[in-house]
Amino acid sequence: MKYDDYLPVWDEKKAQRLRNGSRRCSWVPIAVAISVLLNVIFVFGPKKAIPSGNPQAPSLTALDNYQHLNSQPIVNAAFMSTTTPVNSNENMIVTSLYTDAFAPGVATLGHTLNKVNSSAGRLLLYLPEKISSRALCIATSTGFIPYPIKRIPPPYEGVHPHFLDQYSKLTLWSLDSLGVQSLVYLDADTLVQRNFDELFSVPFNFGAVPDVYIDEPGFTLGFNAGMLFLRPSSSVFERMVAQIGTANYRAEDAEQSFLNHFYGSEAVRLPYAYNANLAIKRRKPELWVDLKKEARVVHYTLVKPFLQGDYEEVEVTQLEKNVVGQYGAWGGLFKEELDDWAEAWRETLQLHGTMIAECRRGHYRV
Ligand SMILES: *[C@@H]1O[C@H](CO)[C@@H](O)[C@H](O)[C@H]1NC(C)=O
Repeated sequence: MKYDDYLPVWDEKKAQRLRNGSRRCSWVPIAVAISVLLNVIFVFGPKKAIPSGNPQAPSLTALDNYQHLNSQPIVNAAFMSTTTPVNSNENMIVTSLYTDAFAPGVATLGHTLNKVNSSAGRLLLYLPEKISSRALCIATSTGFIPYPIKRIPPPYEGVHPHFLDQYSKLTLWSLDSLGVQSLVYLDADTLVQRNFDELFSVPFNFGAVPDVYIDEPGFTLGFNAGMLFLRPSSSVFERMVAQIGTANYRAEDAEQSFLNHFYGSEAVRLPYAYNANLAIKRRKPELWVDLKKEARVVHYTLVKPFLQGDYEEVEVTQLEKNVVGQYGAWGGLFKEELDDWAEAWRETLQLHGTMIAECRRGHYRV
């Protein structure tokens, strides 16, 4: 018969199954009773059955209350496999040199970019009137291409003495004139530990990493301007330059405060791995431990391995000694990071020492 398995609307077998089913329904009142009992135990039972969490937690930021919870990588590999490769003419890593003292920092940064096989182009913005040929030669010995720029003077009084040249950083936005579509800016006091080519696939116009202070306010909403992702635009550049002297912001913090106001509601918050600020190690050591597993860029904010005194130059031959001299800073907290920098500097000398020596003898190739 064609409809062997077909049950008519009513048949005795089905009726039997339904009756059995309805007998099962007689268990429902028992289940409800158990449920009610369990609820009574849940509500009135001993409180220690339910972990109470940390009552202080709501008054801490999640970062001051940091715990090792997440182990997912910060970049999605499947998504990255769909993106276009980095193009060294359109995607650039840019740093800056406003004083000779930072030249070994730039050279070492360049070496660490080589070491992680960074695919982007490299550009070094410098102020020709302030930078000696010797320093420029050392700074570019590991691959940065020198690019002279015009200084943008501070529009307000009261700028921190270390930040007097920092408005020149806004020049980054004008680099579309060179065909640059996206760039990562790194301060000269940063060291690269992992490749970060993925940043060039960020679709937004601007991204940066939130700033961190050792004392209050600690982890903040505002970003640190030592590492920036941006898509240059000369019209944005002109708008910025027109506004630096009229906008209302904290003059002491110079371009960082201006940029925080300019991009206040549009900046994309990038993971701390892109600007692993030493202040995090001091503020929340547990967070630093996890951060080191993913860190792309370490930012030497609290110690400067290649400087002495108040941002003064250290002779190239004295750099290792200078690093050791800083071991004791902050109660010895940054010895490991200082050693990381010293190791990168030794490698820089191994690979580029001949050129650096020629720079120091006055044989410039730039
Ligand atoms: C960089 O590339 C070289 C040569 O292809 C390779 O041997 C090395 O492992 C790469 N380094 C990293 C960090 O991927």
